Amino acid sequence: MAPKTALEVLEQKNQQAKVGGGHDKIEKQHASGKLTARERIERLLDQGTFIEMDRLKAHRCTDFGMEKQKILGDGVVTGYGLIHGRQTFVYAQDFTVFGGSLSLSHAEKICKVMDTAMKVGAPVIGLCDSGGARIQEGVMSLAGYADIFLRNVMASGVIPQITAIMGPSAGGAVYSPALTDWIFMVEQTSYMFITGPDVIKAVTREVVTKEALGGAMAHNATSGVAHFAAPDDQTCLERIRELMSFLPLNNMDDPPRQATDDDPQRRDEALRDVVPLDPNKPYDIRDIIHSNVDNNYFFEVHAHYAQNIVVGFARLEGLPVGIIANQPAVMAGCLDIAASIKGARFVRFCDAFNIPLIIYEDVPGFLPGTHQEHGGIIKHGAKLIYAFCEATVPRITIITRKAYGGAYCVMSSRHIRGDMVIGYPTAEIAVMGADGAVNIISRNEIQKAADPDQERKRLVAEYREKFANPYKAAELGYIDDVIDPADTRSRIIQALRMLKTKRDINPAKKHGNIPL
Ligand code: HXC
Repeated sequence: MAPKTALEVLEQKNQQAKVGGGHDKIEKQHASGKLTARERIERLLDQGTFIEMDRLKAHRCTDFGMEKQKILGDGVVTGYGLIHGRQTFVYAQDFTVFGGSLSLSHAEKICKVMDTAMKVGAPVIGLCDSGGARIQEGVMSLAGYADIFLRNVMASGVIPQITAIMGPSAGGAVYSPALTDWIFMVEQTSYMFITGPDVIKAVTREVVTKEALGGAMAHNATSGVAHFAAPDDQTCLERIRELMSFLPLNNMDDPPRQATDDDPQRRDEALRDVVPLDPNKPYDIRDIIHSNVDNNYFFEVHAHYAQNIVVGFARLEGLPVGIIANQPAVMAGCLDIAASIKGARFVRFCDAFNIPLIIYEDVPGFLPGTHQEHGGIIKHGAKLIYAFCEATVPRITIITRKAYGGAYCVMSSRHIRGDMVIGYPTAEIAVMGADGAVNIISRNEIQKAADPDQERKRLVAEYREKFANPYKAAELGYIDDVIDPADTRSRIIQALRMLKTKRDINPAKKHGNIPL
């Protein structure tokens, strides 16, 4: 055979790198409902912007005949490109090459992308589809994982890190995604667990399917490990693009502004009727959120987990804000362990990345009971207090109804450096609800009354009149104003404009000791 020209050699290598594990394996990947690593990157990034790094890198393993099985790229496609015209780094594991398993070379490629992203201050998106540590490489692949974990932690709070689980993610491999800010999962084709069903059965005799153990909904709704569930690869990648539209490139950058024609003065008189007069009647806090934000568009995150608190992103005058809201429609909006953890993590993300926080408060308190106490509600509730106390981004709280007890303090009250607290006329700021309060402070009076029921009703009405309103707190300056709900949008926007140049700092320290 005639010797190949230099360009022919290059072309041959290009072809080899492009097909990964080969056409058969690509077909298998498609048949299982998954896109290939390259197809995923193409759909994730702006068209034609992907520049690949380390395309020709291969593993260095010489055991188990691996020296004869080198595939260029070594099971991960890495590089950079644009999302909405902004720089992003990406890696996508290629399941067609040794099941996307992680060799040391594979890990080095991911680390190079992460190091470069840190140097230039741009997000990293990882698309995972992997059988875990490359078994043939032994401890070398474990070293590779540890190298990635270290970078995940160093990058935390500096650049946004997003992971999509688009296939298997098992064993210690789950911990790199867990160290990132956002986890997406694809329904039916992805799963995450530290130990799979077979080992579980052998050790505990428990029988469980992969899907029930660590599928998309198990982690979105039950464990809270994942923040988004998508029905397929394409939708998953579109949602990542959408999330990116709210995020700055790094912790020194401002979140990206989007042009809007939504009037900042827009009023909504329907808001006057959203909060029911009966304090025990539920309503959907999302009605208020939607009404206030640009084009009524709210991008909810972590939607399936701890639904008694709602978190997500929206825009006001085109600028991204983080929204955290008690949800009276679920468990009366009380704060339990899951809601506290969900809320705290969201607050810390927004604070790390300069995204102002809008807080909607209607909370009867922390959820009582043995289950919560023994589960550590004290420690977990403290996380939410800690997160709010520490946050230095602009924070505006709107109390729509109940702000009872410790929860009044927690939900970004003025006392913990909330910048602006506004009450609706329906706001009730008190140590506890009227019924509970009267039962405690007027027990004797009620017992002695000729008609105890009547007396209780009278006392409850008296208590409500006196305390279940926003005016005492306003008199004390604990809330800044009581407003017509129709004006909520313009009042939030005015406050955000005023707070635009806000500067606040925390005392110098190595790091705090958040109650983990
Ligand atoms: C090397 C692997 C591999 C691995 C899969 N392959 N996992 N090669 N190391 N970890 C290869 C298979 O040999 C096969 O090669 C190809 O990838 C596709 O795998 P299949 O089994 O045919 O695919 P499928 O039936 O879809 O099953 C996928 C799977 C299964 C569920 C991921 O392959 C599996 O259980 N793999 C092992 C998972 C595991 O235990 N990993 C170690 C976890 S511990 P051929 O050539 O036949 O196509 C870990 C520690 C990390 O990761 C610690 C970090 C701190």
